Amino acid sequence: GLAFALVPAAGIGERSGADRPKQYVEVAGRPLMAHTLAALLAVPALSATLVVLSPEDSHFEKALPEFHGDRAWLARCGGATRAATVAAGLDELMARGARAQDWVLVHDAARCLLRPEWVQQLIAACADEAVGGLLALPLADTLKEAHQGRSRSTLDRRGKWAAQTPQMFRIGMLREALALAGAAVTDEASAIEALGHEPLLVEASLENFKVTWPADFALAERLLRSR
Ligand code: CTP
Ligand code: MG
Repeated sequence: GLAFALVPAAGIGERSGADRPKQYVEVAGRPLMAHTLAALLAVPALSATLVVLSPEDSHFEKALPEFHGDRAWLARCGGATRAATVAAGLDELMARGARAQDWVLVHDAARCLLRPEWVQQLIAACADEAVGGLLALPLADTLKEAHQGRSRSTLDRRGKWAAQTPQMFRIGMLREALALAGAAVTDEASAIEALGHEPLLVEASLENFKVTWPADFALAERLLRSR
């Protein structure tokens, strides 16, 4: 089947402390999300990239006037949770002709360090998978269970991975999984797991982090400028 990218970009970026949604904060000379979308548009295997905005978004057209064309799609159907945004985006992909057996690669707008090669590696790794997979990183740090700012206990980090994006699944299966999973899931793989499937973990780079906290903007800026 074909492969489409779906970029949830309807969040408000509360933890970032910025004066606007973090995807629009200027990083290395461009709005953060411009870097994300440039990486996806540079992957020839992706038929189109759909950005899903909040219906109230007042930034996109001014921030990214160059994002339009055959392979650059925009929808204003984002929801109150990431899962709702992705579910609405999948409906939009199908309304635009994507089919249930086509692949979708869901990628956070806020992961602006994405490299096209990593997307290609994920697509290649999942090509023969029945279900799909995701970029992820084995945990390096020791994991603590916190209680009121103190470390209460230590969790076993062996066999633990930090999930990144893109996460690549069949559009039809992901729609079904999200409908059953509800609003609480914070990634696609957890909804797929709840159906009893085991998505492939494809080892990724620490560089593919999600801009989340105030200090992350400067780190993203340094990494982007050093490329
Ligand atoms: N997202 C979305 N719709 C939502 C919530 C999040 O499309 N209702 C998107 C964000 O725009 C982001 C991605 O999901 O690109 C990952 O979510 P996160 O890093 O949590 O972003 P925010 O929810 O915007 O940030 P915060 O949780 O700090 O408010
Ligand atoms: Mg969030």
